[in-house]
Amino acid sequence: MSGLRVLLVGGGGREHALAWKLARSPRLGTLYAAPGNPGTARVAECVPVRADDVAAIADLAERERIDLTVVGPEVPLALGVVDALEARGRRAFGPTRAAAALESSKAFAKDLFDRHGIPTARFGTFDDPGRARAFVHELGGRAVVKTDGLAAGKGAILCGSASEAERAIGDMLERRVFGDAGARVVVEEYLEGEEVSVFALTDGRTVCPLASAQDHKAVFDGDQGPNTGGMGAYSPAPVLPPVLAEEVLRTVLRPTIRAMSAEGRPYRGVLYAGLMLTAAGPRLLEYNVRFGDPECQVLMPRLVDDLLPLCEAVAAGRGLPSSVAWRPEAAVCVVIASGGYPGEYRTGLPIEGIERAEAHPGVTVFHAGTARRDGRLTTAGGRVLGVTALEGDIPAAVAAAYAAAAEIRFDGLHYRRDIGHRALQRLGQRPRGTVVSP
Ligand code: AMP
Ligand code: GLY
Repeated sequence: MSGLRVLLVGGGGREHALAWKLARSPRLGTLYAAPGNPGTARVAECVPVRADDVAAIADLAERERIDLTVVGPEVPLALGVVDALEARGRRAFGPTRAAAALESSKAFAKDLFDRHGIPTARFGTFDDPGRARAFVHELGGRAVVKTDGLAAGKGAILCGSASEAERAIGDMLERRVFGDAGARVVVEEYLEGEEVSVFALTDGRTVCPLASAQDHKAVFDGDQGPNTGGMGAYSPAPVLPPVLAEEVLRTVLRPTIRAMSAEGRPYRGVLYAGLMLTAAGPRLLEYNVRFGDPECQVLMPRLVDDLLPLCEAVAAGRGLPSSVAWRPEAAVCVVIASGGYPGEYRTGLPIEGIERAEAHPGVTVFHAGTARRDGRLTTAGGRVLGVTALEGDIPAAVAAAYAAAAEIRFDGLHYRRDIGHRALQRLGQRPRGTVVSP
């Protein structure tokens, strides 16, 4: 039997990690990436079609007789790329537009949690600024104010005081700083605790939990500075022991999948739960309808099972195993960013040192914002590379990732020096070896 023809949608670090894993499948025939990047180009044929051009993706899948399309980012999912593919009789890994509302509408998601008793922060949904402000006071002043719609990870404002929360509400509802995404806001209780990301595959009925991971959203060491898409990640997350993972599966993930089916929006794909582990137990902060980036870059190297049949089972609604196998080693990913990111940054800067970094044992460099110009590899985004190391434990993987990251050179690069710090603290350890500066 000839291998499957697979199309991977997206062109960031997450998609390079997915391509890297899919390419190891003995069931794979041809892998296409739309648009891909110079990293995915090592294992896939890149097609210059934008990830959010839904019609062009569906045309491509039809023209190339694609058996399975795996969608990486949230935007095409929210735009209905899976609906478009299925309308053409093409199978896809990812939720339909209606099911993607779990991420694309925070108000929908929070109301669903409320209707189905899924533990989450106390909240209210508002389009009236006066009512939103009144609710802030009901919460006691500290609050988190969020845009209802997608805002590229920047739509949640943590407010330490009522005046900050009132300003955030004004920015969203009155000054429309976030455009239409902020035409409705969710105001919620400010939870204290440690965050963890939990991932699961689901075909709409069965749920297969994946390993835990934790990312680092703030741009600077010590979790200082503005939030980014994620400056690094590690897996497993020692903060989530198996009993707690089981509790999350029982009280959060399974009830959500049942709720989505019951409400006529069966959910298929990967479900990414952002949780706060509070003194009162795990609370769901939000869902994403895709893999995390850079969490995917630490999950894929640890996954033993073949990803492709799992994706096929999800797309076909065929039933999933109740668990998959993980390598016992830990994975750590350090994101190398452009100077200025998450603000303004330059692009087109030549990159060096990837081969040297990958010569370190256990290291893979995933491309995120890179491009090939006149045969040279250059920067093309804010998050440029994800240097990932797989080693015996978290301290060893941290040391290996930093030793490899020190090989990378481009003008103005920066990265956090403390990826994994919470895990190291929890494990009561410092990284082995020296953390080398570039
Ligand atoms: P979200 O866009 O909902 O993922 O929120 C972005 C980030 O804001 C989360 O990863 C948390 O770090 C933080 N956050 C969101 N909601 C809350 C909350 N209710 N309490 C405390 N922190 C929160
Ligand atoms: N790393 C956070 C995200 O993918 O949303």
